[in-house]
Amino acid sequence: MKITGSFDPDADAIIYEGDCLDLLSVIPSEFVQLIVTSPPYNIGKEYENRLILDDYLAQQRKVIEKCVSILKSTGSICWQVGNWVDNGAIIPLDILLYPIFASFGLKLRNRIIWHFGHGLHASKRFSGRYEVILWFTKTDQYTFNLDSIRVPQKYPTKKYFKGPHIGELSGNPLGKNPSDIWEIPNVKSNHVEKTIHPCQFPVELIERLVLSMTDENDWVFDPFMGVGSTAIASLMHKRRAIGAEIKREYNAITKERIAFAEKGELRVRPMERPVYDPNVKAKSIPPKTIELNREFAQPLLFIEYAHNDLHRESVK
Ligand SMILES: C[S@@+](CC[C@H](N)C(=O)[O-])C[C@H]1O[C@@H](n2cnc3c(N)ncnc32)[C@H](O)[C@@H]1O
Repeated sequence: MKITGSFDPDADAIIYEGDCLDLLSVIPSEFVQLIVTSPPYNIGKEYENRLILDDYLAQQRKVIEKCVSILKSTGSICWQVGNWVDNGAIIPLDILLYPIFASFGLKLRNRIIWHFGHGLHASKRFSGRYEVILWFTKTDQYTFNLDSIRVPQKYPTKKYFKGPHIGELSGNPLGKNPSDIWEIPNVKSNHVEKTIHPCQFPVELIERLVLSMTDENDWVFDPFMGVGSTAIASLMHKRRAIGAEIKREYNAITKERIAFAEKGELRVRPMERPVYDPNVKAKSIPPKTIELNREFAQPLLFIEYAHNDLHRESVK
């Protein structure tokens, strides 16, 4: 696998250490098929300076404008955000960011609700248990591979009981559309993917976007890459990954995670695993084997990730 630190169209992965605007300035227009990111939230996390809201939105506008220009006409942008909390009052960032995307002519296809079970316990409002993914496309001719991300039907054996198709299965045997509400565990301290990053994506969240919105060999870009969860999800499915991260230590973890995955030693939570319910006896889902690298295909082994003991609390 060819991994580079600067733009190289022949690479499998480009892991750039620096400001995303610098990387964006050297990516050719219409180069990437999918942009997925969770931008730095303006909530005073340890990795950012607290910006006032107008400055934050102006900075986001600059990044979004460049993202639109490097996006293919069949491509998608997925911007994952939560709330800005100001003195106990919440300001939903997706509502503030929507007009910026719309001003560049992007079309909103879904406002996906990512629901998760764990987080801070609020005492003066209801505890926040979801964040949002705004999915935009550049044109009406966009890639959407629904069959690759279908989920099991609730009643897979249900049949038509009258009409011309009587006796036939009424649901799609490949499964159903996963809908726009996704219940996926967030990466808290006991999650198998946890690193030192306070706010990382679960890989399975990005897998669903990558599989549905790109084809093999397409480029997937994350301007605020963190510890490279977007890159991992992309490489797992034979896509190419490009991203920027200003913090050296996070970049080092991204490279380490990719190296673990190449050896078949990166532990990820499988997409098919149901969310844990203490009242339901879970069916055992065997480890999934994923071909990460075209030359050295290896199964993913389920061993503990080394950074798990360095974890911090995440508020996602
Ligand atoms: C919400 S985190 C993203 C985490 C990521 N989704 C993951 O799974 O690891 C945002 C990241 O953006 C980085 N960042 C902030 N400003 C940046 C900039 N101008 N260019 C590139 N990265 C930046 C921060 O250091 C932080 O790691």
